[in-house]
Amino acid sequence: MKPTGTIPPDYVAGPEGELRIAGSSAEALVAEAGDTPLFVYDMAMIRARIARFRSALPERVALHYAIKANPYPAILEAMANLVDGFDVASGGEMQAAVAAGMPAGAISFAGPGKRDRELQAAIAVGVTLNLESEAEADRALAIGDRLGVAPRLAVRVNPAFSLRGSGMRMGGGAAPFGIDAERVAPLIRRLVGAGADWRGLHVFAGSQALDAGAIADTQEATIALAAQLADQAGVAPPEVNLGGGFGIPYFAGDVALDIAAVGQRLGESLANAPAVLATTGFAIELGRWLVGEAGVYLTRVIDRKESRGQTFLVTDGGLHHQLAASGNFGTVVRRNYPIAIASRFADPAEEVVSVVGCLCTPLDRLGDQVALPRAEVGDIVAIFMNGAYGATASPQGFLGHPAAVELVVNQP
Ligand SMILES: Cc1ncc(COP(=O)(O)O)c(C=O)c1O
Repeated sequence: MKPTGTIPPDYVAGPEGELRIAGSSAEALVAEAGDTPLFVYDMAMIRARIARFRSALPERVALHYAIKANPYPAILEAMANLVDGFDVASGGEMQAAVAAGMPAGAISFAGPGKRDRELQAAIAVGVTLNLESEAEADRALAIGDRLGVAPRLAVRVNPAFSLRGSGMRMGGGAAPFGIDAERVAPLIRRLVGAGADWRGLHVFAGSQALDAGAIADTQEATIALAAQLADQAGVAPPEVNLGGGFGIPYFAGDVALDIAAVGQRLGESLANAPAVLATTGFAIELGRWLVGEAGVYLTRVIDRKESRGQTFLVTDGGLHHQLAASGNFGTVVRRNYPIAIASRFADPAEEVVSVVGCLCTPLDRLGDQVALPRAEVGDIVAIFMNGAYGATASPQGFLGHPAAVELVVNQP
């Protein structure tokens, strides 16, 4: 048997011992949505996370949603009224953000390799570009000239530090992301001199960190770096995006991030910030911390088979919808997400099984030797921590199976 992550406490058993998601059984949600495999996202849980952020973090810090985590349109529409800005990573995400109702002035666009047509679309509507290279800066300025518009430009900085303990480090070395900190000040002077609408700095040093101290240290270092760059350039940044990196406890032994501790340290760092940042607005951009725990992936058992002493529950889902749960997206060692048999949520484990998907590859494993109550063909398996990096971060076209169905519950 191998351990599984802890099921978030919002998911409880109903009167028959069945899993309840936002008050409904898995079967009722599947009937409502029409089919399995199904991602269910609970907007009430997302609203609760946002409220927690607001009460723990200093008021001066704006909250942005990194929509790459989950760009499902109904989520974006709800989020547009709940957060202060969206961070997008492509022209397609930018269009989705605008379509969801987020004002262009509250959208920032980061990411390497932006094409001219993406730069042009952003500049034309007034989206802020987080520049990833000097060459990109040149192209943005030239497009702004051609359109007769002062482009809204910020610089994404590749800092000399990274976020300690993060699942994915960005910063601290050579990187395709951002402009090396030591080269930023002359670029700021050039952008301002060229008449750009100078928006400030963006520093994203890593993601999926559970250590509040490491996040707070990174934020403190980011504030110091922003002040240093402002001094060197002789221009204060109107905004500093401090990045994010707030992680969630996917696996056995993971402990949830202490966001109150992050908020307290950030309050101190801002109170002690150098005077050059006195009028600067700060933002934090979060993806998975806002939406990850609010999503459950429901997949039906199609076959139950034995092979050389092991039991396999073969489902209609798989890594084509949930690459991360299969261990093939950003993790070195495969570990089990929290998992349950929906109809027998309250029952004790009776057997050790592997839950696999319907793809013909040994990589397609959603639960590896997990202890569960006995499940039969037709039962629904629930995999938790599935609100982020699911449907759109997985190879949905692989092997020609249908895309997952998605459903948002508890919409306002
Ligand atoms: C620039 C940037 N912002 C935000 C995010 C979102 O990270 P997370 O979902 O871990 O909060 C990422 C993730 O890779 C990123 O690269």
